[in-house]
Amino acid sequence: MKFQAKVTDVTKIEADLLAVFAGSEDAKKVDTAMGGMLSEVAGAEDFEAKPGNLLLIHTHGKIPAKRVLLVGLGKIPELTATDLQTIAAKIGRKAKEVAAKTIAVSLPKELQAQAVVEGLMLGTYTFFKHKSEETQRQEKHIEEVVLLTTPPRLNAVVAGISRGETVSQAVNFARDLVNEPPSFTTPTHLADVSKKLVKGHATMSCEVFGPQEMKKLGMEAILGIARGSEEEPRFIKLSYKGGSSKTVCLVGKGITFDTGGLSLKDSKNMETMKLDMAGAAAILGVFSVLPILKPNINVVGLIAATENMPGPKAVKPGDVVRAMNGKTIEILNTDAEGRVVLADALSYAGVNVKANAIVDLATLTGACMVALGEEIAGMFTDDETLAKDLKRSAAQSGENIWAMPLAREYKEFLKSDVADVKNISGSKYGGAINGALFLQEFAPKGIPWAHLDIAGPAYAEKDTALTPKGGTGFGVRMLLQWLLQ
Ligand code: BES
Ligand code: MN
Ligand code: ZN
Repeated sequence: MKFQAKVTDVTKIEADLLAVFAGSEDAKKVDTAMGGMLSEVAGAEDFEAKPGNLLLIHTHGKIPAKRVLLVGLGKIPELTATDLQTIAAKIGRKAKEVAAKTIAVSLPKELQAQAVVEGLMLGTYTFFKHKSEETQRQEKHIEEVVLLTTPPRLNAVVAGISRGETVSQAVNFARDLVNEPPSFTTPTHLADVSKKLVKGHATMSCEVFGPQEMKKLGMEAILGIARGSEEEPRFIKLSYKGGSSKTVCLVGKGITFDTGGLSLKDSKNMETMKLDMAGAAAILGVFSVLPILKPNINVVGLIAATENMPGPKAVKPGDVVRAMNGKTIEILNTDAEGRVVLADALSYAGVNVKANAIVDLATLTGACMVALGEEIAGMFTDDETLAKDLKRSAAQSGENIWAMPLAREYKEFLKSDVADVKNISGSKYGGAINGALFLQEFAPKGIPWAHLDIAGPAYAEKDTALTPKGGTGFGVRMLLQWLLQ
């Protein structure tokens, strides 16, 4: 999909499909050029100009564009970034439906080009790599998108296109990683992807630790979870130097497949567990575009990558492991593995990264999905500034997070009889909070830290306009927005 900003009269533009917004000047121009046909059909079809409502008509040669798509926008000030992206995604899907290769979108001045580009690129995303060549050939593609604007806005639209393309590329990169089969996206593969990402970029570097190095570092927690698998674990450290004295550390859960271990999941719940490295994928998505966006801040990415398998050497309920910060963990449920591997990753951040803020992303608990559903991530932090900044970045970029409590009163449920903490709570309630409280035991003291439980929004169980079924790339947009501010 190639994007271009142009200052051209809508009634002169050539395209397979021209999208105009209901009530806009351009819609009126098109209507006039078509002898009132657009308003006539809209009336006959009872078209309501609600956000995302669409009406498609042929132009019968009255204007150079082959089809006009009338798009409802509603009242612009009320629309969020998500709304705008969703509307653009619907335009993209409609264009694909009618096999339009070239499309033009008339941008009202209130509409951000970035949101439109993101909607089009995210909404038309497919993961067809493993389908037959025949199916891949039949898949329709939008080849060219022209965004029509006015001379005073041209520069802003050009910049918006560039930003939107880069951000979407990063999101779709993360989606691909999640959507790939789990026997392909192994910890070793994540390490290889990381090394490839930094290649040729003077501002970036990557270190990969294997089992021996991890042992030397004292990462018994990750090694414990990795024991049930034939695949070797990897601890990955990515660095980006943005030429500032400030450093942000991003930590990602990279369970490349979560069977639950000996506390085995049932088949239904295991079906989607390739998603369990979505936190890691989001970080890799972010790093994939840092050299393009060049935020003025240093970024360290830490990925704890392993499978969670019930092999003969697997940790058993009741086993005790020592995390890198010296705290011991009684593993009572091997399916609560994410917090165990993150214990080492957060400890590592405390010892080896001089961070001004730490944010971890993890598909940590089914309980967070019960609490907030499939669209919203839970945010746990005691730092109000960080909470405000992350919340704002999410809202501005079209993602949704909600502050949840790090409720001190539930800490006692994590007490173990034989170790410092146990990996499941003594209470059957508040599962997302309990997971976060466990992580807090390992987050370095004195550094603002936020935990994002992305179990819900990381993976779409059904198609929506903006996110086709599968990996969503959640977190990439909000993190990029945050880093750029
Ligand atoms: N990866 C899962 C959490 C998850 C569930 C993510 C569904 C996305 C969709 C995690 O490792 C897990 O199994 N958590 C357990 C924790 C419990 C044993 C305390 C859960 O949520 O059931
Ligand atoms: Mn699990
Ligand atoms: Zn998991």
